[in-house]
Amino acid sequence: MTLDLVVRLLKSVSDESRLRLLAMCARGEFTVTEFVQIMGQSQPRVSRHLKILCDAGLLERVREGNFVFYRLVNSAEIRSLTQQILAFIPASDARARSDQLRLNQIKDARLDAAEKYFQQVASKWEKLRSLHVEDLDVERALCELVEREMPETLLDIGTGTGRILEILAPFIMSGEGVDLSPEMLSVARTNLDKPGLEHCRVRQGNMYHLPYEDSAFDFVTLHQVLHYAGQPADVFAEISRVMRHSGTAVIIDFAPHNHEDFREEFQHRRLGFSDSEIQGLLSQFHLTASPPIEFPGRELTVTLWTGRKA
Ligand SMILES: C[S@@+](CC[C@H](N)C(=O)[O-])C[C@H]1O[C@@H](n2cnc3c(N)ncnc32)[C@H](O)[C@@H]1O
Repeated sequence: MTLDLVVRLLKSVSDESRLRLLAMCARGEFTVTEFVQIMGQSQPRVSRHLKILCDAGLLERVREGNFVFYRLVNSAEIRSLTQQILAFIPASDARARSDQLRLNQIKDARLDAAEKYFQQVASKWEKLRSLHVEDLDVERALCELVEREMPETLLDIGTGTGRILEILAPFIMSGEGVDLSPEMLSVARTNLDKPGLEHCRVRQGNMYHLPYEDSAFDFVTLHQVLHYAGQPADVFAEISRVMRHSGTAVIIDFAPHNHEDFREEFQHRRLGFSDSEIQGLLSQFHLTASPPIEFPGRELTVTLWTGRKA
């Protein structure tokens, strides 16, 4: 961080409203409408303060359908500076306490909505789970791989509930999850709203057009997502694009199976993948494949494929 940057960041928070906005963004991601509800200020005024914090590089905006969320920039330096500044706000301050109370009400309402949505999909997932190996066995193997590499930046594509980010959080500096479904993202946001997961966040995006720059990540995971892809090659092209040289991609999905019923019941586009298909796709996009790891289950085999960018 340069001296100029520190001056710019400190200037941007030298205002009561902006300090309150920063304190809220340190506790989650919110829309302008939610900030307006919490702070009781007009929308133009709140928007103006948010713009100043974004321009300074403290906050960023992420679009999700018709909504725009504001959140802290995901860097260790920004998180650390923010924590140090916020530590000076006394917990007894009436404005800070009222902001916190209203913010908790908004979070509780989100949690209710996310739980209701998840209950609808969870029963389908349970049925599928009963046919394959315990998720924990696969997750353990994935954790070992990530722990060995300790990547700085990790992207989880098709993050769903944010489960993969949650289990990998101890081994990474920052984690991003991307998913097409705003409902799943609400579930993920509530799941990631826990101590120790501040460096993991999610945003809306399509695996065919990832909303990230080239070479942005050291590690990319795709857990039980590729079977939704009509064009798997396009997903591999995106994985390779957003990955740094010597980065690693892990793809976990089913080995070929005959459950035609999954197409209708679970909207799967593909009934599993063979080693040769995945290895072919990895090499087409300049990723060197390691030997796959298989997890045979009652009816379905789950396979973990690894590719490294040379
Ligand atoms: C079976 S869930 C897996 C979730 C998560 N990876 C896990 O293992 O817990 C598949 C996820 O892929 C997401 N998905 C499907 N198509 C997608 C696409 N084109 N782009 C991004 N996400 C997608 C779905 O919304 C869903 O959350």
